[in-house]
Amino acid sequence: MLVLGIESSCDETAVALYHSERGLLAHEVYSQIELHAQYGGVVPELASRDHIRKLTPMIRQVMDQSKFALTDLDGLAYTAGPGLVGALLVGASIGRSLAFALGIPAVAVHHMEGHLLAPMLEEEHPEFPFVALLVSGGHTQLVRVDGIGQYRMLGESIDDAVGEAFDKTAKLLGLPYPGGPELSKLAEKGNPDRFKFPRPMTDRPGMDFSFSGIKTHAIVTLQQNGDDAQTKADIACAFEIAVAETMAIKCRRAMQETGLSTLVMAGGVSANTRLRQRLKQLAHKHQWRVFYPGKAFCTDNAAMIAFAGCQRLLAGQNQGLDYRAKARWSLEELPALS
Ligand code: KG4
Ligand code: ZN
Repeated sequence: MLVLGIESSCDETAVALYHSERGLLAHEVYSQIELHAQYGGVVPELASRDHIRKLTPMIRQVMDQSKFALTDLDGLAYTAGPGLVGALLVGASIGRSLAFALGIPAVAVHHMEGHLLAPMLEEEHPEFPFVALLVSGGHTQLVRVDGIGQYRMLGESIDDAVGEAFDKTAKLLGLPYPGGPELSKLAEKGNPDRFKFPRPMTDRPGMDFSFSGIKTHAIVTLQQNGDDAQTKADIACAFEIAVAETMAIKCRRAMQETGLSTLVMAGGVSANTRLRQRLKQLAHKHQWRVFYPGKAFCTDNAAMIAFAGCQRLLAGQNQGLDYRAKARWSLEELPALS
């Protein structure tokens, strides 16, 4: 089955072509970072307009790279939520219209299911069941995964998502948007022993997260210690360590509570080297297996959408022409594959 995937939920426009037997054939990601950087964050209206400008030429480009024609497609997969509604509507409308014109089924893909399944694109990939730590700009969730569409929420952030905390702390340190990767680069120059940040919600049971306290701690530390370059690097380092330790503690609880032995981390923040290393170390200690997406498939992309959509289309699932994009959408509402 040949599936075209479209992603437009936030500030990346992405298109990919996935074949159920041959794997990923082509994929392109266009980032709107430059467009939004001058505003210090994503401007939804501008994001939608830019998706409209980019999407159709990118579909052409991906098809040309693959040497397949549009008429060879068996299905269409588009991100239908969660995300910015105006941005989602661009991908949904173009994807839907293309499927309608070609007379093929279209499937509405949950963005976080895309992230969750992204490690499946790798040659060495996890087997069900596993525990997934989803870490992106909008979500921080620990999920028990028994199969595609069989998700049980174990814990999530009660305030900021971890990517949001990275971005806000980076902004505070004077780093350009989006700050996550920039903060991570700065942290490499930091002294890990100068500041110790709190590990929120680790002293009580449960698997929920809170990140706004770490961010506030960064503000206070900066105010008290001046803002020279070394202090900023030391704060970035302490922030990253606090996040990594908090994640490790919650993942350990999730693994022990479920009794599972495979851990997956996915979503934009899973590109973070310190987090990847920390979970690898934890998994090694407990003899668990740990999997991440390839670095190109941690942040938003359409390969994960085409892959997730393909699995659902193969199982006979698709949506009618009147299906609507959703700003909010729980993973637990998704149907299991029959
Ligand atoms: O999954 P994603 O591309 O978009 C959403 O679905 O939100 O995640 C974007 C988030 C941003 O907050 C970005 O700063 C963060 O992922 N991020 C990182 C790194 N790369 C991306 N955070 C920390 N370290 C990184 N290397
Ligand atoms: Zn994402």
